[in-house]
Amino acid sequence: MADGKLRGKTALVTGAGSGIGEAIAMLFAAQGAGVAVVDFDPTGGERTAQRIADAGGNATYILADVSRAGDAERMVAQTLARFGRLDILCNNAGIGVAAVCHETSEADWDHTMAVDLKGVFLGCKYAIPHMLRQGRGVICNTASVAGQVGVPNRAAYCAAKAGVLGLTKSIAIDYAEQGIRCNALLPGTVDSPWIGKILAQQADPQGQRKLMEARQPLGRMGRPEEIAGAALFLCSDDGAFVTGTGLVIDGGLTAR
Ligand SMILES: NC(=O)c1ccc[n+]([C@@H]2O[C@H](COP(=O)([O-])OP(=O)(O)OC[C@H]3O[C@@H](n4cnc5c(N)ncnc54)[C@H](O)[C@@H]3O)[C@@H](O)[C@H]2O)c1
Repeated sequence: MADGKLRGKTALVTGAGSGIGEAIAMLFAAQGAGVAVVDFDPTGGERTAQRIADAGGNATYILADVSRAGDAERMVAQTLARFGRLDILCNNAGIGVAAVCHETSEADWDHTMAVDLKGVFLGCKYAIPHMLRQGRGVICNTASVAGQVGVPNRAAYCAAKAGVLGLTKSIAIDYAEQGIRCNALLPGTVDSPWIGKILAQQADPQGQRKLMEARQPLGRMGRPEEIAGAALFLCSDDGAFVTGTGLVIDGGLTAR
């Protein structure tokens, strides 16, 4: 643990109780970071923190809903209280609602924007002042290929993720001189519990899984650990010259 790429760093990862966020938290801890595991689901959040501890890492679970300003401010404050610094912020928590534009309810639109876009804004808003004081910091926002191309039946989600990409680029240029880098992950379809839940609602889950796999030229879904590997590149010194980018990790989905 002590010799990893993130030795001495502190990372805050939202949505770390499941899927991609859990994989990022595990990998960052294995690379030597102290990790604040943030999730509004205590079962998942506690489990990830325990998995890190069991592997010899250093983690704490923080209960927070990223769409609430008070929670976002507190998650940063608790991270600082526990670890004394905040070097890496991964705004990863997200939700998705299936609907075309005219069938999206106003409530679903507002909820998607609140978690997927405002949640990212709030995380950045409360973490950046500390990064400015430290003179450096890295932000990694989990967007989606849905922020770059249209994905069928995901109107609000596509809009929110495109917003995440825009905010990412804005932050990258506004704080570059102060030593803060900001990038986004753009995953294709990744085999997380989220996708498992979507498949479980289908009439033919296995058939739908095969369709999802086939539409990505590499012929499979991504693994959460593969997205975590991209996050490690962006958040470690390996990515020291990378800012304002959206890194596509999609098995070729958007190359067609
Ligand atoms: N799985 C995919 O195919 C895929 C593809 C592209 C992008 N993404 C993005 O990756 C991120 C993670 O997705 P995943 O597939 O790991 O999903 P997941 O559902 O497995 O995990 C998401 C986690 O976020 C938490 N969360 C949700 N809303 C929250 C809130 N308001 N406050 C705090 N925590 C909250 C959940 O409790 C859960 O633990 C999301 O932003 C998603 O949009 C996923």
